[in-house]
Amino acid sequence: MLAGLQNVTFEFGARVILQDTTWHIQPNERIGLIGYNGTGKSTLLKLLVGEMMPSAGTLERSRSTTVGYLHQDLLSFDTNGSILEVALGAFEKVLWLEKEIERLGLELEKNPEDNDILHQYTDSLHEMDVLGGYNIHHQTEEVLQGLGFSNADLQRPFREFSGGWRMRVLLAKMILQKPDLLLLDEPTNHMDLPSIEWLEKYLVHYQGSVVIVSHDKYFLNRMVTKIVELYQKELHVYNGNYDYYEKEKEMRVELQQRAYENQKDYIRQQERFIERFRAKASKAAAAQSAMKRLDKLDRIEDVEIERPNIKINFRVDKTPGRVLATLKDVSKNFGEINIVEHASAEIDRGDKIALIGANGKGKSTLLRIIAGVETFDGERNWGHNVEESFYAQHQLEALNVNATVLDEMKNCGSQKNELELRILLGCFLFSGDDVDKKIKVLSGGEKARVALAKTIVSKANFLMLDEPTNHLDMHSCDLLIDALNKYEGSFILVSHDRYFISKTANKIWEIENHQIKEFKGTYTEYVEWKERMAERKETMTDDRKTIVVKKEQTPEIKPAIEQRPSNNAPVNKEHKKELQKQQRIFEQLEEKIALLNKQKNDLEKLLTDPSVYSDKNKFREAETNFANAGKELSSLNKQYEEVFDKIMQLEKGL
Ligand SMILES: Nc1ncnc2c1ncn2[C@@H]1O[C@H](COP(=O)(O)OP(=O)(O)OP(=O)(O)O)[C@@H](O)[C@H]1O
Ligand SMILES: [Mg+2]
Repeated sequence: MLAGLQNVTFEFGARVILQDTTWHIQPNERIGLIGYNGTGKSTLLKLLVGEMMPSAGTLERSRSTTVGYLHQDLLSFDTNGSILEVALGAFEKVLWLEKEIERLGLELEKNPEDNDILHQYTDSLHEMDVLGGYNIHHQTEEVLQGLGFSNADLQRPFREFSGGWRMRVLLAKMILQKPDLLLLDEPTNHMDLPSIEWLEKYLVHYQGSVVIVSHDKYFLNRMVTKIVELYQKELHVYNGNYDYYEKEKEMRVELQQRAYENQKDYIRQQERFIERFRAKASKAAAAQSAMKRLDKLDRIEDVEIERPNIKINFRVDKTPGRVLATLKDVSKNFGEINIVEHASAEIDRGDKIALIGANGKGKSTLLRIIAGVETFDGERNWGHNVEESFYAQHQLEALNVNATVLDEMKNCGSQKNELELRILLGCFLFSGDDVDKKIKVLSGGEKARVALAKTIVSKANFLMLDEPTNHLDMHSCDLLIDALNKYEGSFILVSHDRYFISKTANKIWEIENHQIKEFKGTYTEYVEWKERMAERKETMTDDRKTIVVKKEQTPEIKPAIEQRPSNNAPVNKEHKKELQKQQRIFEQLEEKIALLNKQKNDLEKLLTDPSVYSDKNKFREAETNFANAGKELSSLNKQYEEVFDKIMQLEKGL
C-alpha cells in the first residue's frame, strides 16, 4: 500500500465530511475521485498529504512513498526564473550532478593523475547515466509543449503567465518528478482540449499511482481504472471507469433500496410481534429476545437523500433585434502575437455559439473584445435592445476572498434587496447560515455557484460565458445545460468540456489563421466533419497523385462573413495556376519533412549513444542539432498545413 486512511473521521465544526472511513491506495492505480461539489474531495486530498488532521482515525503512508500534490486553487508560488527553469527544478539531483561533473572535469584537467578525482568523476558520470540525466532538457520541453507551451514561451519568465498557465508549469514539474503517488485536484479546469488529451495519454502510461479529482466524464472514462466516490460521508469504490461506475451505481442503489425495503418490512413485523405479546406471560421471553434482535440490527440506510437541485433559471427581460452584435474588421495583437486580423463576424438572435480551439489562439480575448473589456482595432456594434452579461474565466479568482457570500452579491451592483438576494442564493444551494460563509472557505464548485449567481442577477438576453463549467460537478453541469437549453436569449461560450459543448451549442466558432471561422452545426457534427477532412488529408499524403480532392456534400467551415469573388470567370485561370503552384510547394514540403524526420530520428539515437553522451561537447552539439531539427520540423509542418488549406480553398473556388 502506498498511502491511505484508517477509520478516519473529519469535520468542519458541526459539519461531518468523513465518517469512520478507510481507504487504501495501492501501487499502479489510476483512480478518479468524484462526488458532488462541497462533499469534501479537496479536503480528503489535504488529509492524505497531511495538510489537515483527522479528528479520529489514522493516516497511513509507507515511509518510502513519494507524493506529488496539485491544489485546486492556484498556488501563490512565485519566482523570477523562466518556466523552463521552474519545470527543470524537478531534476534537482541531476542539475546538481551536472555542476559536479563540470567541476570535477576542470579539476581533472589541472590534476590529471589524481585517481580520487577520476573515480569521483566516473562515478558521477555513471550516476548521471543511471538517472537518465542526459535527457532531462528534452523531456521537460516535451512535457511543457504537451501542456500547450510554445517553444518561444519556454524562456519567458514564470511571472508573466496567468494563473492557469502557472498551474500547468507546476503540473509539468510534478509529473517530471515522477512521484509514486500523484494527487491532482481538478487539473483540467485550466486546460484546453489539446492539453487535456495530452495529459490523458501521459497519465495512462504513468509509472505510479494517480488520484485525480475531475468532473469531466470523457476524461475519466479514458483515464482511470477505478472510481472512488465520496458520497454520504463515505468512500465507495468502483473497479472500472466512469461508464462502469454509472451502471454499477444504479445497480447498487437498486440493491440498497431493496434491502432497505425488506429490512423495513422485517422491522415492522417484529415490532407488531413485540407489541402483541409483550404483555402475555407465555410469550414474554420471545418478545424480549425479538426486542434484543431489533436493537442489535445493523440498520440499512435509505438510499437517496434527495439531492437539492440548483435552480438555474436565466430570465430575459426584453427581446432584442435580429442581429445581436457585429464585429467588423477587427484586429488585435499582443506585441508580436496576432490574435485576429481584419476579422468580421455576426451574432444573430438564437445563436448558441461555442468558441473552441487551442489556448493561445485568443478565445478569451475575442470574448472580451465582444464584451467590450478589451481594446482592439475595428468595430464592435451591439444590435437593438441587447442586454448582455459576461461571465469571465477568472471570475472565481476575482471574488473577494474575505467577503461573505451575501456581501459579494450585494457588491455586484445589483438593484435587488437583501431578501431577494437571499432567495436567489437559495436557488444556488446557499441557504441559512451558508450565505455568511467567507468566500475563502468555499469549495471550487461553491465559488463557481456564487459567480454564476452574479451573472444571473442581470436578466440579460445575451450571455458571454468563459469556461462556465469549471469546478461544477456533473450534476450541476447538467442543470446548467438544461438551463441554457431553456434560455430564451442567445449566448457565446468558451469551454473545453466536450460533453457540455455538444449539448448546448448550435454553432461552432474557431479562430483560424487570425480569422473567425464558423461552422453551422453541433459539436458532434463538427467533429465528424473534421475527421472526414483529416481522412482526406491522409489520402493526400499517402498518394500525392490523388491530390485532386472530390467535392463532398459536407458543411464547410468558412469565414464568418464570406468574401467570395463576385465574378468567377477571370479568376478561374489564375486559380488553376495558383493551385498548380501550391501543389508543387506541397510536394516539395512533403519531401523536406520526410528527410528532416529521418535526420531527427538519427540525432535522437545519437543522444543515447554512450560515446556521445559521455563527451560533453559532442553531446551539446548533438542536443542543439536535435532541438534545431525539431524547430525546423514544426515550422515546416505549419507551412504544410497552411499550403494544404490554401489548396482546399482554391479547389473550392474552381
Ligand atoms: N475552513 C473551513 N471552514 C468551514 N467550512 C469549510 C472550510 N473549508 C472547507 N469548508 C467546507 O467544506 C465543504 C467541503 O469542501 P471541499 O473543498 O473539500 O469540497 P470538494 O468536494 O472539493 O468540492 P468541489 O467539487 O466544489 O471542489 C464545503 O462545503 C466547504 O465550504
Ligand atoms: Mg474541490
